[in-house]
Amino acid sequence: MNFQLSEEHLMIQKAARDFANDVLKPGVIERDEHQKFPTEEIKQLGELGFLGMMVSQKYGGGGMDAISYVLAMEEISKVDASASVVMSVNNSLVCWGLEEFGTEEQKQKYLVPLAKGEIIGAFCLSEPEAGSDATSQHTTGILKGDKYILNGTKNWITNGGTASVYLVMAQSHADKGHKGINAFIVEKGQKGFQIGKKENKLGIRGSDTHSLMFQDVEVPKENRIGEDGFGFKFAMKTLSGGRIGIASQALGIASGAYELALAYSKERKAFGKPISEHQAIQFKLADMITQIDAARLLCMKAAWLKDHNMDYTQAGAMAKVFASKVAMDTTVEAVQIHGGYGFVKEYHVERLMRDAKITQIYEGTTEVQKIVISRGILA
Ligand code: CAA
Repeated sequence: MNFQLSEEHLMIQKAARDFANDVLKPGVIERDEHQKFPTEEIKQLGELGFLGMMVSQKYGGGGMDAISYVLAMEEISKVDASASVVMSVNNSLVCWGLEEFGTEEQKQKYLVPLAKGEIIGAFCLSEPEAGSDATSQHTTGILKGDKYILNGTKNWITNGGTASVYLVMAQSHADKGHKGINAFIVEKGQKGFQIGKKENKLGIRGSDTHSLMFQDVEVPKENRIGEDGFGFKFAMKTLSGGRIGIASQALGIASGAYELALAYSKERKAFGKPISEHQAIQFKLADMITQIDAARLLCMKAAWLKDHNMDYTQAGAMAKVFASKVAMDTTVEAVQIHGGYGFVKEYHVERLMRDAKITQIYEGTTEVQKIVISRGILA
């Protein structure tokens, strides 16, 4: 077992770290406050190849492995979790599924610009009444001639307003349950496709979360992904990889908060010495770094399994459950170490604490991950 990163991995990690500090950090507080999408920053992230990292070079991607993806996600998330969710959704939930299951025509038309970061994508599974219970799709996609007609509403869609391409799950054969669900590629601006209100969120406020409405939207048959009825499995397989991305996001939020708390504890003096010299703070820092290291190992293990074409569904769910809890616990402690300063925006840790919460909710709640893990061990 080798715990050492390769030269290439170290370079990717450094590139992501530099980008986060030089480009994302300066405006992150303002974007959070005003719910401003990082348009220019995401464009640059795409130019650096971070929006299609794992896509093969043949389709405009970076041809990198999942370990590189974890490293980059951690570094970006340390500074700006709103930017990293855009990155995670585009890489894992949109590009991966298209490369793995799309037709050559779909890849040329949609994957290439998505992988190059020229456009971004969205993954549309959740509905007002289908969150954790993802089989209960009310959105319908009914075949009429050579087109599917889409009707329904999607909720909580990351990149909802800014995406150009949407992967939309819909029920085509109600009598077949989850085996009747299809996944469709829908383009922005199609007649009957409306973008609903932007959500005013607790965290990841720079990201763009919307509901979407489909009213008799005509989708060409060639925009269905995979065989008829493959949509639910498509969503589940895609989410298995997506969970490695969100686990890495949680890891980054935790390690970002830890680094800030460590630096602050060396500067801030109380009772005649830096607070880092008080055992009460040392114990907190020791707990934080231990938890973060364990979360990182789980993320890396899931990524390693993926890179070696082994089953990573359970490992990804374990990484997400653990890392998201570590993100919550660590950010709360980071605020505590900062005292009153931790409660104001300039010190960044209150934002990280707010951002941490979503990692226990999206791409499957902690409870859903535990269902996935227990099914894995009981199978
Ligand atoms: N890979 C491949 N196939 C899978 C699978 C996986 N990971 N998980 C399930 N399946 C298959 C099963 O084998 C089964 O197939 P068969 O019928 O052929 O046997 C089929 O899918 C149905 O599976 P289940 O019976 O396990 O389905 P279930 O209804 O019990 O649901 C669940 C299981 C794990 C709870 C699932 O519904 C789930 O993951 N829910 C959460 C959905 C979710 O993560 N939503 C997040 C939205 S996306 C998002 O948040 C993105 C964003 O914007 C950031």
